[in-house]
Amino acid sequence: MSDQQQWQSVAKPAEGEAVCFDLKARVRLSNGEQADISEQGFLICHQGQYRAWKNSCPHAGAPLDWMPGQFFSEDGQQLVCHVHFAHFDPLTGDCLSGPCQQKGLSPVKFIESGNMIQVPVSTHLVDTD
Ligand code: FES
Repeated sequence: MSDQQQWQSVAKPAEGEAVCFDLKARVRLSNGEQADISEQGFLICHQGQYRAWKNSCPHAGAPLDWMPGQFFSEDGQQLVCHVHFAHFDPLTGDCLSGPCQQKGLSPVKFIESGNMIQVPVSTHLVDTD
């Protein structure tokens, strides 16, 4: 398997908005075999800065958005998981309140490139045991 990272282009979201993208992950099963799973990431713009996070809540692993692409609180200052209402800092991914118990969002690498942002096609190998 190659270590070469593959990238995909995602349009930059507007201030206070999010764009979702697909992400593959190769997992190593407890029996030593490997399997590919599909995940999702989301890219946000907050206070003029971009961040990319995995769309997986650290509380119970659910996607954060209650409707596709809806991640921000009503005042636009925090990211919210709409399952049990954990709140996160949009720029650091830190858990601010709710049942996330100080576990933050998982960052996804990104590279700004003109009007687009490059995000990886896949994440690194993850062990399941
Ligand atoms: S799954 Fe997100 S707060 Fe419970």
